[in-house]
Amino acid sequence: MNNSSGKTTRRNFIRILWIALISISLLEIASVILAFLTSGGRKSGDRKLQELKVLGSLDDFAKGSVTPFRSDRLYLVRMDDGGLIALSLKCTHLGCAVTWNKDSGEFDCPCHASSFLRNGEVSNPPAPRPLDFFPLVIEGGLVKADLKNPNKRNSFQKSQLTYA
Ligand code: FES
Repeated sequence: MNNSSGKTTRRNFIRILWIALISISLLEIASVILAFLTSGGRKSGDRKLQELKVLGSLDDFAKGSVTPFRSDRLYLVRMDDGGLIALSLKCTHLGCAVTWNKDSGEFDCPCHASSFLRNGEVSNPPAPRPLDFFPLVIEGGLVKADLKNPNKRNSFQKSQLTYA
């Protein structure tokens, strides 16, 4: 009698365990389907915008300013005419971090003395090419940078600047 009751209890326990596991699996499947359905309405452009890093309000960056974003490894430069360029702080020689020198108005590399103009062009080798720059978008008064797609270049072109 006791033995039979014990079997019943064990059988019930296993049945409840199965029901619980199946319920959890169904909930997970439902949450995956829900996540898929709620993201399905977005356009690919929206997804791309989500990847852009907001650097700040356009008004935060005065004409002629150079603003460091050390954690993003870039300098946001606003030219005197209002054009913006986000320069990688990685020296194009061997990758040391360049620093802005207010006195000279240039970026200096501490490793082998390369220097770069405000627009990123090399003013003193051995750096072989200008600093890379990140694409910028100005939307709703905000400056946003695409940090995943740095651009390499051989010279500075005015088309590399972004205007409001
Ligand atoms: S790493 Fe910058 S000059 Fe060499």
